[in-house]
Amino acid sequence: MPAGGFVVGDGQKAYPGKLTPFVLFTCVVAAMGGLIFGYDIGISGGVTSMPSFLRRFFPSVYRKQQEDATTNQYCQYDSPTLTLFTSSLYLAALVSSLVASTVTRKFGRRLSMLFGGILFCAGALINGFAKHVWMLIVGRILLGFGIGFANQSVPLYLSEMAPYKYRGALNIGFQLSITIGILVAEVLNYFFAKIKGGWGWRLSLGGAVVPALIITLGSLVLPDTPNSMIERGQHEEAKTKLRRIRGVDDVSQEFDDLVAASKESQSIEHPWTNLLRRKYRPHLTMAIMIPFFQQLTGINVIMFYAPVLFNTIGFTTDASLMSAVVTGSVNVAATLVSIYGVDKWGRRFLFLEGGTQMLICQAVVAACIGAKFGVDGTPGELPKWYAIVVVTFICIYVAGFAWSWGPLGWLVPSEIFPLEIRSAAQSITVSVNMIFTFIIAQIFLTMLCHLKFGLFLVFAFFVVVMSIFVYIFLPETKGIPIEEMGQVWRSHWYWSRFMEDGEYGNGLEMGKSSNQGTKRV
Ligand code: BGC
Repeated sequence: MPAGGFVVGDGQKAYPGKLTPFVLFTCVVAAMGGLIFGYDIGISGGVTSMPSFLRRFFPSVYRKQQEDATTNQYCQYDSPTLTLFTSSLYLAALVSSLVASTVTRKFGRRLSMLFGGILFCAGALINGFAKHVWMLIVGRILLGFGIGFANQSVPLYLSEMAPYKYRGALNIGFQLSITIGILVAEVLNYFFAKIKGGWGWRLSLGGAVVPALIITLGSLVLPDTPNSMIERGQHEEAKTKLRRIRGVDDVSQEFDDLVAASKESQSIEHPWTNLLRRKYRPHLTMAIMIPFFQQLTGINVIMFYAPVLFNTIGFTTDASLMSAVVTGSVNVAATLVSIYGVDKWGRRFLFLEGGTQMLICQAVVAACIGAKFGVDGTPGELPKWYAIVVVTFICIYVAGFAWSWGPLGWLVPSEIFPLEIRSAAQSITVSVNMIFTFIIAQIFLTMLCHLKFGLFLVFAFFVVVMSIFVYIFLPETKGIPIEEMGQVWRSHWYWSRFMEDGEYGNGLEMGKSSNQGTKRV
């Protein structure tokens, strides 16, 4: 199932081309794709902690919240409809990303982006004007459909447009824009919650229309990628476009390789069954385990429910929203650290350092909440120093995630899959991510009610498991060209047993063929 393509250099083959303004423009569009995703992640927690919003749509939660602090605080937000408001989006995104992969392949990346933008605008408007709970949920589902289309097409578009030398940085750039989207949403929630009359939540939810319009308009003015044009038989137009994108006349080498790669990937008839072959066992394992573990760090508990969580541990609405802004800023800043360090310190170092940092913080937060709230969830008066300690450790936890599992959870899968399974394996990674995002969003508030402070220990347990997994099973991929990735499995103490000689299939073998240096996703 060919779904796109990009080019990598192998040291011997370097395609001519510069970072043209044209390519920069595509980066901005990609950033918008990340922004709408991030905006949604960040907006729901703030909105669901606004009393006026709760009173209107979730009166039973509102009543529980108004009861005094002598009742069980762990359970004040436990409402399946409330969590459905947050989580429905991810289920919809999962479904639509499967549909989007066909649209993206058959009709081009632009059309998927356009669909994404339009669906997203519709969802934002329905949410902004919502009068009933069902309107909120329908709006979230439309936003989810939009995200499915955008997240499928924008990263592909970016990979195909980017000169190979800049692809790595652009990859984490996408994650950076997700974190910026989250932060913008949190800042807006903070200010909109102060609007007298209590209708600020309409602006928060409806505000998503702004990034949505940008990506809609962007998709109308952008050209389709040369890869996609070749895939649809428009060879001459593709060559002209490639010259313009790269800013040089001599693009024949890259063009020939794109055509060869397109033929190659179209000849693969059954990418899904292919993926089940023994030699792809390490790839399949990583495609499933990396997104699974990324979500089991518990990060989205903070991203979705930080204000609700801070409220639960005794902050006022205003202080809760402000604390969410603080964690959101730490998220952005720490992602920059990752962009700086990922190719210097390596993936394994960041994974293991980030894991240790998250583990310590989860233990401290569990201890703090356990000490004050006990098992019955009745804290009494909470001193200021207590709030500061909790927020500080949550920030250190977020930083640990943002320079490890956050960006690497997307980067590592995208760089380890060989050509012939790349598209199928990538779909698995995206789907597993969305399923577990959905599950965590859906059950967190119920889990908090039942597991109490122990919930943080559950996530801490998974952080230990995932760190051991990385230590034992994940080879370092820093500085290795994609087409030579086979060597990391062949020299690995465990995975080498799945690699039969000459059977690896992508890189080295292909690297020696006439398509050397060309890969398709
Ligand atoms: C994850 C999201 C998460 C975000 C936080 C992403 O890599 O996939 O689930 O909300 O990082 O910054």
